[in-house]
Amino acid sequence: MNTTTFASTTDFQFTEEQRSVQAAARDFAQTELLPGVIDRDEHATFPTEQVRRMGELGFMGMMVSPEYGGSGLDTVSYVLAMAEICKVDASAGVIMSVNNSLVCWGLDQYGTEAQKQKYLTRLATGEIIGAFCLSEPEAGSDATSQHTTAEDMGDYYLLNGTKNWITNGSSASVYLVMAQTNSEKAHRGINCLIVEKGTPGFVLGKKENKMGIRASDTHSLMFTDVKVPKENRIGNDGFGFKFAMSTLNGGRIGIAAQALGIASGAYELSLQYSKERKAFGKPISEHQAIQFKLADMATQIEAARLLCLQAARLKDEHGDYVKSAAMAKLFASKVAMDVTTEAVQVHGGYGYVREYHVERMMRDAKITQIYEGTSEIQKIVIARELLK
Ligand code: CAA
Repeated sequence: MNTTTFASTTDFQFTEEQRSVQAAARDFAQTELLPGVIDRDEHATFPTEQVRRMGELGFMGMMVSPEYGGSGLDTVSYVLAMAEICKVDASAGVIMSVNNSLVCWGLDQYGTEAQKQKYLTRLATGEIIGAFCLSEPEAGSDATSQHTTAEDMGDYYLLNGTKNWITNGSSASVYLVMAQTNSEKAHRGINCLIVEKGTPGFVLGKKENKMGIRASDTHSLMFTDVKVPKENRIGNDGFGFKFAMSTLNGGRIGIAAQALGIASGAYELSLQYSKERKAFGKPISEHQAIQFKLADMATQIEAARLLCLQAARLKDEHGDYVKSAAMAKLFASKVAMDVTTEAVQVHGGYGYVREYHVERMMRDAKITQIYEGTSEIQKIVIARELLK
């Protein structure tokens, strides 16, 4: 696979550190993710060894401080690394994204010192991985209507309910579970509880047989009278919904970077293929019909790249990044879908079969318009920010 970088230096001057993180991620993706990526997709095999290596290389807790086992890097570095990894393997990317953006970041920002020592240190090194459990059979976009309950029993909560579509569902050891404690308070009655795998009453449900990101493990989870100690609640009583919204604000930058990576990977393969494939007596890259496609793809990717970096930089500068993150995710996910569809078209019949990667990329791209808030949810978030 071609390794051309999408990171031009028009306005964003990267630091030495950011460049070396990007180079390390690119090298890892090309040498350790690329072999076997088609097979893992075909058989929906979780990339256990590759995720272990991502931990060793510092990609599982990129923005966590070294004090808690993380790499202490900024969001721009995270975006660069995520995009390089997703150029090759978007399944590895989502495993990394959930662990970094939702689980580690959430614990780092809002966890107690004891919670950080107990959980974050192992999550940030990749020794264990985490899952973020908000979605339910009847609460996807409408996240305030949590049916999972966390009854206050004094020293502990009694957790009951079902979660759906949980990334890292079976591979995680630690789960951040949103549940309703006081329905009279609506979303202000929701708590986020840290639940360990193996807690009695916590059962893994079915594994989803997905269209894309097939090597990541997406499960439903069932909780029946699960006792969760009070010290496992994140933040004050009723902080759970705010916790979920705040982590998702940042998570959208990770998914935007995933979409950017998928689009970049498909574009690079198309560019390379167009120079090699001959039709009507010359490489198809010499036909204007293909040149127009390549030009559109590259332009869309450049715009998505700038939005991703803009959101990341705002987050690093402690600015208000909610709107930028939602715009980056909304735009980059559409670019991923458009570019991968065109990549299949450029490849013709070869684009429709497994060996050429782009059909997988087209399937992988679709989820970026759905999880961590659908495109419609991003528009709601953006509009609210514009109107407030
Ligand atoms: N940032 C911070 N706080 C926010 C927020 C945001 N982006 N959006 C809403 N809130 C706060 C509001 O300020 C409000 O707080 P107060 O209690 O102080 O009033 C509270 O949350 C409730 O907000 P609303 O009344 O506006 O709630 P709503 O129901 O009208 O809309 C929503 C909220 C934006 C639609 C929200 O439900 C949402 O984002 N839904 C999408 C959920 C989602 O992204 N799910 C993805 C699952 S996770 C996943 O996909 C991970 C994975 O595995 C890859």
